[in-house]
Amino acid sequence: MTPADPLAHLGLRDPARFLAAYRAAFGSIHGAFTIDAALLFFMYGGLLAEADVRGATCEIGVHQGLSAIAVAALRGEGALFYGIDTFGAPRDIEASGGMSGDDRAFRANMSRFYADTSFVRVIAADSRTVAPSRVEGCSFFHVDGGHSADETKSDLALAAEATVEGGLVALDDYFNPSFPGVSEGAVRFLAERRGALVPLAVGHNKVIFQRAPPTGDLNARVAERYARLPHTRAVFDGAEVLVFGSAVAPHVDLDRSTPARLVTRDVTLRAEIRPRVRLLEAAPGAVVDLPLRMWNRSDIPFAWSDAPFGLSYQLYRADESVERYENARLWFFPPLDPGVDREMVVPVVAPERPGDYVVAVDVVWEGICWLRERGSAVPRVPLRVE
Ligand SMILES: C[S@@+](CC[C@H](N)C(=O)[O-])C[C@H]1O[C@@H](n2cnc3c(N)ncnc32)[C@H](O)[C@@H]1O
Repeated sequence: MTPADPLAHLGLRDPARFLAAYRAAFGSIHGAFTIDAALLFFMYGGLLAEADVRGATCEIGVHQGLSAIAVAALRGEGALFYGIDTFGAPRDIEASGGMSGDDRAFRANMSRFYADTSFVRVIAADSRTVAPSRVEGCSFFHVDGGHSADETKSDLALAAEATVEGGLVALDDYFNPSFPGVSEGAVRFLAERRGALVPLAVGHNKVIFQRAPPTGDLNARVAERYARLPHTRAVFDGAEVLVFGSAVAPHVDLDRSTPARLVTRDVTLRAEIRPRVRLLEAAPGAVVDLPLRMWNRSDIPFAWSDAPFGLSYQLYRADESVERYENARLWFFPPLDPGVDREMVVPVVAPERPGDYVVAVDVVWEGICWLRERGSAVPRVPLRVE
């Protein structure tokens, strides 16, 4: 007996190419969403479904459907997708960062991916007027509507009411300094409704919460299944969260993945670093320039992000013991794409004690690893301090 197709109920036009086609739609559908955020939704939503938490899905702020296409793909068999939006009343355009909605564009974009869109329920209204009973039974709820404190607090209350136990609530823009109302509204909600929503993950402009009580340890399953995806940990509202600070998409084989289950792949991380000098000389404590040329020989860009890439170095004594391990970073800003090279100058701070040292130059992926830990070669330049 073959296992049932977990996507059959979605009514996708092209199930085999869904993710590749969806990725290609970024750029042609206007919106404020990223493929990396969608992949986070699929990771958590897919594992939640495996834990038998399946239901309707809902989004406040569908705009033209860019994120709604992903959220609708997380609904359970026979379940609906609710899309709430005011669709462009002038006050809302201002409150949501200048974005207007368009019912027709939203429906047309959903039809690009779903052959039959009869599962879509559009609620063209201010979300603050929507009763939880109109959107109940959700296993995934995306809050991306009005960005004022009052709207955010009200939308989180609606999401918490409408979401089943163990279900997920994703909040947009919590850490975006352009929309302080979102964090203000969220903090007010979290303080008043202690424990109703437990934070699980942060990344790609989203915070993912779980409706209490949690179903199993979703983060343990994410960390196990998606161990290749770089992440760090932090504490948010008293709960340990996984932080996905850098791009997810390069680590995912989109052609073999589905919204229910992503297939990850190993990413090559290499820097080719060629120092321009054979020997450095400096007075004790002085700064000496180490010029070099370097190539990004990795599959992914050396880029600025919440987990940025930087060029740095370690200092060793003549007997190979460590003189100074952590040193200043030169961030790759603008990014250095795969295959591309750049001239750079590392300002090396000499030790206070005269003697012979070695400078080992390497690229760090902040919070994740040094590239030498992934097999990248590290050039060593002698440093004489006198
Ligand atoms: C940032 S956009 C959403 C982006 C969208 N999720 C995407 O994938 O591109 C915010 C949306 O929220 C809607 N909106 C703003 N205030 C709202 C409110 N109080 N109730 C319902 N929708 C609202 C706006 O019309 C706009 O379409």
